[in-house]
Amino acid sequence: MQHKHITFIGAGNMAGSIISGLVKDGYPADYICASAPSTANTEKLAQQFAIKTSQNNAQAVNTSDVVVLGVKPQMMADVCQALADQGCDFSNKLVISIAAGISVQRLQSLLGENTAIIRTMPNTPSLLQKGMTGLFASQQVNEEDKKFAGELMTAVGETVWVEDEAMINAVIAASGSAPAYFFLFMESMQNKAIEMGFSAEQARLLVLQSALGSAEMVKQNPDIELSTLRKNVTSKGGTTAEAINTFQQLGLPATVEKAMQAAADRGADMEKLF
Ligand SMILES: NC(=O)c1ccc[n+]([C@@H]2O[C@H](COP(=O)([O-])OP(=O)(O)OC[C@H]3O[C@@H](n4cnc5c(N)ncnc54)[C@H](OP(=O)(O)O)[C@@H]3O)[C@@H](O)[C@H]2O)c1
Repeated sequence: MQHKHITFIGAGNMAGSIISGLVKDGYPADYICASAPSTANTEKLAQQFAIKTSQNNAQAVNTSDVVVLGVKPQMMADVCQALADQGCDFSNKLVISIAAGISVQRLQSLLGENTAIIRTMPNTPSLLQKGMTGLFASQQVNEEDKKFAGELMTAVGETVWVEDEAMINAVIAASGSAPAYFFLFMESMQNKAIEMGFSAEQARLLVLQSALGSAEMVKQNPDIELSTLRKNVTSKGGTTAEAINTFQQLGLPATVEKAMQAAADRGADMEKLF
């Protein structure tokens, strides 16, 4: 990975995870700066990873090649406006946003119409370097910067590029919000296992290990369709078949489809809020 001076605006959970991933991958810590209003998070990151810190966003931006916008979506407009008001020039910088619900057009209206912007949508397991990130590049982004942003987000997991910005909302539906879908499914299974007589701890372990093992089987068999994996463990007339038939009769596939569409629609609506 090429070494560029990166400034993170925001030093919270997600910025910290990306920084952690980068430093673990051997990225030079003195090329990384985190800027936030208070010192609590920045000092912690400096102690852990020996990165530079700042309490002055504009100064930190001015000494960087790449700016990662890692503040909460509702803060983003104020933070970007303040940078613009302080004369920050983004014409030769790459801006990477990790905030949900803020369009490229909105960021360009704040930072400059021709700013090279990459919009990313990571999910929460990125905090454990097991994330899934969708990325979209504005037309001002060159191939070198695209490669750099892809490698940056690879520090916290896997990446998928989308060619159309609207597809970022599909990323939200398929991976951004997905951890909560799995938590709900696991929670429902755990509750039933407890009702069947297991302790909460045993029920959690039964569900967790089954989820981990199933995900690992999917990962280790990239050429086998998910439906085949399912059929392979579903003997006709057996116990699994009873459960799967029940899920299907009660409309699980259609429910999943509707839920994912609702997430994508909400993503599109949120773009109008900020
Ligand atoms: N966490 C996730 O799982 C997740 C997943 C996908 C996307 N994201 C996106 O990642 C972004 C950050 O989320 P997070 O969970 O990392 O948030 P977080 O832990 O709450 O961190 C927010 C950071 O923003 C800083 N901040 C607030 N006002 C600022 C300002 N004016 N200038 C500079 N920094 C400022 C805070 O400063 P202090 O340190 O001084 O408090 C804090 O370091 C959000 O846009 C979110 O949508 C997060």
